[in-house]
Formats: sequence, structure tokens, C-alpha cells
Amino acid sequence: MLYVQIILSSAACFAFAAAPAFAAQATLKVEVDKPGVKISPTLYGIFFEEINCAGDGGLYAELVRNRSFEESDKPDSWTAVGGAKLSVDTEKPLTDTNKKALRIKLTGNDFSGVANDGYWGISVVEGAAYNLALWARCAEGFAGPIEVRLESQDGKAYASAIIDRIKDDWAQFKAVLKSEATDARARLVVGSTKAGVVWLDVVSLFPEDTFKGRPNGLRPDLAQMLADLKPSFMRFPGGCWVEGDTLEFAQRWKRTIGDIGDRRTQYNLWQYYSTNGLGYHEYLQLCEDLGAEPLFVINCGMSHKENAPMDKLDEWVQDALDAIEYANGSAESPWGAVRAKNGHPAPFNMKFMEIGNENGGPAYEERYTVFYDAIKAKYPDMKLIANVLPERRPADVVADIVDEHYYAGPDFFIANANKYDSYKRDGHKIFVGEYAVNRNCGAGNLRGALGEAAFMTGMERNSDVVVMACYAPLFCNVNYKKWNPDLIDFDSSRVYGLPSYYVQKMFSENRGDVVMPLELSTTASIRKETACGAAGVGTWATEAEFKDIRITQGDKVLYASDFEKPKRGWRYRGGKWDIDNGALVQKSDGGDCRATVGDAGWTDYTLSLKARKLGGLNGFMILFQVRDDDYFLWWNLGGWDNQKHAIERALGGSRSILGNEVPGRIENNRWYDIRIETTGERIRCYLDGKLLHDVAVPELKPLHAVVSRTASTGNAADVILKVVNVSNESLDTHIELNGAKEVAPEATATLLTSDNVDDENTLDEPEKVAPKTTTINNAAPSFRHTFPAKSLTVMRVKIRSW
Ligand code: AHR
Repeated sequence: MLYVQIILSSAACFAFAAAPAFAAQATLKVEVDKPGVKISPTLYGIFFEEINCAGDGGLYAELVRNRSFEESDKPDSWTAVGGAKLSVDTEKPLTDTNKKALRIKLTGNDFSGVANDGYWGISVVEGAAYNLALWARCAEGFAGPIEVRLESQDGKAYASAIIDRIKDDWAQFKAVLKSEATDARARLVVGSTKAGVVWLDVVSLFPEDTFKGRPNGLRPDLAQMLADLKPSFMRFPGGCWVEGDTLEFAQRWKRTIGDIGDRRTQYNLWQYYSTNGLGYHEYLQLCEDLGAEPLFVINCGMSHKENAPMDKLDEWVQDALDAIEYANGSAESPWGAVRAKNGHPAPFNMKFMEIGNENGGPAYEERYTVFYDAIKAKYPDMKLIANVLPERRPADVVADIVDEHYYAGPDFFIANANKYDSYKRDGHKIFVGEYAVNRNCGAGNLRGALGEAAFMTGMERNSDVVVMACYAPLFCNVNYKKWNPDLIDFDSSRVYGLPSYYVQKMFSENRGDVVMPLELSTTASIRKETACGAAGVGTWATEAEFKDIRITQGDKVLYASDFEKPKRGWRYRGGKWDIDNGALVQKSDGGDCRATVGDAGWTDYTLSLKARKLGGLNGFMILFQVRDDDYFLWWNLGGWDNQKHAIERALGGSRSILGNEVPGRIENNRWYDIRIETTGERIRCYLDGKLLHDVAVPELKPLHAVVSRTASTGNAADVILKVVNVSNESLDTHIELNGAKEVAPEATATLLTSDNVDDENTLDEPEKVAPKTTTINNAAPSFRHTFPAKSLTVMRVKIRSW
């Protein structure tokens, strides 16, 4: 096969394969009659977190913002109309837990009152009905009535209702408002032409049309996006939202159920208030409506900045036990009865609970053990998910499943597509509870989506180990983006899925029963990566010093440290770096402290130095082939709490271990001799003259695939091929379905690609990058198909017999 490859050199020291004269070739050989591992039925799910106004201002259909006036001491999100005077007071609280109310001093000159714009506009649709409910009371002398109306920003009325008989005691009033127009930025106005003082509380406006018609329900268009993903589980309600910055702001489910007026309005570390209107019960209900297993993440007494003391952990553990009883107990059990009262007498049958979010270290292991013992003693069948493997706990305190999170550039995911091939088969299971390409992906483009798709082929291929996985985060109101990217973006009336959304959908709706053995080969290459980059030293929760640093390329000295002079030429990232006694010293106990020197274009060099640990948790890191802050290699000596040495490779933010791990520790106050030789792709690392690692940096693979088979009827089944071509070349592929006797010639191929990997979807162009399904007519035990450059294809072939 003739194809032209031109090697270009670039500052980033990549060489790209130029456009080929012909399509590159590939072969995909499947053993159709030799089923491999079973695919976990819970493999593909979703992760909902209250971030980016995902719930309040998003999925939760409430249209009024700050409905209970609990957010602050000011009437945030409410504006005065017609000269009315607004204030928030606690003169006569509606309930013990809902202390604040809005006081309105009406002028009586003309119409005066208060307006609420909702979350960047209240979206109303012509002919649709909106259920208004509010609590009101008045001061003596107010003759009423008050009027509520939906109107345009410039005061054109779309619907109105009159509320009279307001008294000096709180009473609830309800009205149905039917809009005469469609407007995505309407507002709700409450006021009167009469003078007087009126108080309002829990002013709520819901579209009559909610997902599955649930009261206190969800926006149907957003919920439908979830339903279309066919998720088999839903992890909720966070994320960092579960932890809170401090324990005061941790998620406590008991304040998220029951009457919406009594729920806790809570500051969210994603910088807005949550009403908890979308609370524990609603999450469970959503799971049921989606046919998804609920996976509740409980706070384990740990927040970002503080932990509950061990002797005060009981109440947190009790929360977990009660949450399980609420979800699963009979309607006669104490918490089951509360669930029944809240409208769901039958148990929700929750099977999964995660203990904490992204917690770790000794503090986590201690707390995890207590939760584990208590939950397993009462509910032995609950599947418990740990944030990290509780390695230091007694052997009987295990994790059924361990949660791994990955956020990085596309290359990291491509490089890790085979990560799980080498995981132990008899250990704990893996839940990839958060993952997404979040660098080099714009606001969520095709490049990112394909990186994730490549990684997902590896998860599915190893679904005996990886039993659950979900992208993160799920939702973003485009007016309040706190994280980039997010799977589903929306405003008050529109919604679209990122290219990544379609990847999730294509994988989820094309699930097989078992994985089929597969051999892949191709003449394509993504790019030739020239091993090059600057060098450096680093520490993690450790103080250390470094001296006699020399970088040589053959006879040429690229760098020789002379720390008598000012430390010119060095770049620092984290840490407290200084020169002491002819050495470069890092004096802080912070994580990830780096100092680098040299040129991103340096290749084939030997880096030698002396390093000494002065104190702290770990050893030190020696950096090489540093292209930038996100792309580098380091030799981590005495890493993982000073337990082992390994080379790690960062590709777009996240690191993964390259080659072998060597058990070992770094002692305090001892100078170590370190040498790293880089020759092309090969790396050799020596500690005190002893070779510990000799590895070749693998190239990124251009082609990734997983093949599965649906449950068979007799000898007939669908074979599902998921093929990700991350190269710039289209791949003319020879597909062999070995063992298949008869294959239906018609098959379907669903293709996700676009003209440019930078292409994104937007509110105005929601399906620029969306899958298209075509029928092919040449399927056979052996046939050809072309997989376009930069694409994901899901092909379903019908095997009639094998
Ligand atoms: O998904 C966004 C955040 O990323 C989650 O809150 C947290 O768990 C992770 O750090």
C-alpha cells in the first residue's frame, strides 16, 4: 500500500502524518463464536451533580428564583415594580425552618409590587399552563386584592390571576396561569394597585407539563435528554457538592425531603444557592422514571476543609442507614413511612451507595471502615463504593467497587484506552464515576468526544472489571458555567448535547451481552511523537534539595547547575524554592511543586543529579521531556506515601504509570545519585547506579475498537462493532467475522464525525456534530468498510448462524 508520510518538525516536537494519497488500511478480526467477558448490565450510566445550575435553574422545573427568600438578607433575584419598597424580614416566619419572608410596601399610586426573572428568564409557551402557589399575609389596613401575572420584560401581560382575602396570618394561594404568548425571557410579577404592606413566601411557579407529570417535577426537555441516554444507573447528587467546602455546607439528605417550603436553601460551593427542591426523593423518583439504578453518594463526615471528628461520626453514619431505609424500607418502617407520605409507598430498591466523594488518605480510610461496618451489618446486600481502595484497613473491610475519576486532554484518554486490560481480574470492581476530556477540547468538541470514545472501548472490553462508568459533569445552564465542558447545555428554553453526549448515547444504546475477541491492525499513525522536552525536579508533600544537575547530549552539555549564582533560567510551579549551600531547595510541604529548566526541543539527553529528602511524606520527582505544564514525564521516587518508584507520563493534565513499578522508599537526609537516559522513545532510570526502569514510551494508537454480541436467539445475534478512528486518515478496513456462517448483507452503521475536530454544537446549531445512521449492503463473514478520519462508528451486523 502506497501512502505518503511527511515528517514535519514543530516546536511542540510532534510530527504529524500528512494527508495520505490513499486511505490507510486496517484489519479488524473478530472471533464471533468465542464469547469473551460478560458486559456489566450497569456499565453505562449518568452522574448528576448540582453544578452549573444543573438542578436549580435547570432540570428542576421551578421557574422562580429565590422563591423562599432564604438566600440572603436582601431580596436577591427580585426587583421592585412601580416604586414598591422591598426588604427581607423575619418578623413572623412561615415555619421554624423557613424564617425569612419578603416584605413589600405597596405605593397605591398605581400598580406596584415585585418581579422575578427566574433563571435568566422565565420561559413560557403560548397555550401552556403554569401552576402558581404562594404564601401571603398583610399588615392591617391592606384592602387587597393582589394580582399575579406573567409578562414580557417590557410589561406586556401574557396571563394573570387575582388573589384576594389576604389576612394578617399566613395563607397559601394557588392559581393556574395560561400564557397567551411564547417568550423565553418572561417574568413573574406580583403586586397591587392598593397601598399597604404585604409579605410573600415560597412563591413557586411550575409548568404544568413536567417530566412524567410529576408534581414538584422536572423540565421535560432536559429529562428527556437523560432518558434518551438509556442510563442503567444514576450517581447523585455530586461530586464536590456532597462534600461542601466546610461541614456546614455538606449535603444532608434529610433537609431535602418533604414540603418545599421547609427544605434547606443551601449555599453551594459551585457558587449559587440550591433550594434542594430537587431532593433525595426526587432523585430516587427520577431514577425510577429513567429505569436507572439509584447510586447515592453520602457524605462520610468529610468536607473540603474539615472532617467530622471520629467521636461525632455517628450522626453521619446514621444518615447513611436512614437513607437506605427511606429508599428501601417497608412503608411501616420509620423512614419508609416518610417516603410513603411523600407519595411513594413502594420501596425504590436502591442497591448502590458511595461512601464520600473524592476523599482519601488515612482520614478517609478510618471513616470508610465505620460506614462499611455499620451498613454491611444492617444491609449486607448493599453494594458499597469506595473513593479509594482502603488498603490499610483489615482484610474484611473491603470495597465492592472503587471509584476512579479522570479529567485530562484527549491524548490521555487515547493513551489509556488499554488501561484496564492489565487490571487484576479477581480483585475489586471499578466504577469510573467521573471522566471527561476537559483540555484541548474547546467548549466540548469532536476531538474531546473521540478521546472519550477511545477510552470507552477499553472500559467495555474490560467490563468484567469496569462495571459502571459515567461522564461528568452532566448539565450546564449556559448562563452559569462553572465547569467546562458539560455533557448537556441549555438555557431557559433550549437544550443541546455535546458531541460527547452522542458518544455516550451511541455506546449506551448499543450494548451487547458479551465481548468478542478482536485483533486490530492498521497502517495509519496519529503522529510520530519525538521524545523531547525540558528537565526538572519536584516534590509532593515533601521538602528536598537537589544539586549537581547536568544535562548532556552526547558530548554536549545542555545544562550544568551552578547554584552559587542566582537560579537563572529556572521556572517554578508551586512550592517554595530557594538556593542553599549550592543546592536548589524546596521548602514547602505543598503538593505538586515543580522547578524546570531547559528547552522544550531537547532530545536524547542524559540527566544526572543528586537529590536529598529533608522531610515530609514522599520522595521526589525528577522531570524530563517536559513540553509544558500538562505534557511531561517524571520519575516518581518514593511516591504513593513513599512506597514505590515509577515513571509517570502526563498527557494533557492527568498522569499514568508507564512500565514497571518498583517497591522502594527514599530515606531522609541521604544523598541519592540519579540518572535518566533518554534515547528516542527509550528511557532508562538509574538510582545509585542501579537500573530500575528500562521502558519505551508507546505511541498513541490511531484505531480503537470493541466488539460485542447481543444475547442470541438460537444461533442468531447482532454483532456490534464500535470503532474509533482518531487518526487523520480514513481507514479502508477489512473486517473478518471469523466463525460466522451466514451474515445478513444489510447492516447499520451509525457515524459520528464532522469536517473539523474543533467542531462543537451550540444552542443555535445543536446538531452540527450528531450521529447519522445509514444502511450498508455488503456485510458478510468477510467484508470491507471505510471508517472516516476522526470518527466513531457503531455498526450492527446480523449474524444468522455461526
Ligand atoms: O464533576 C465536577 C467535579 O469534579 C466534581 O464535583 C468532583 O467530584 C470532581 O472534582
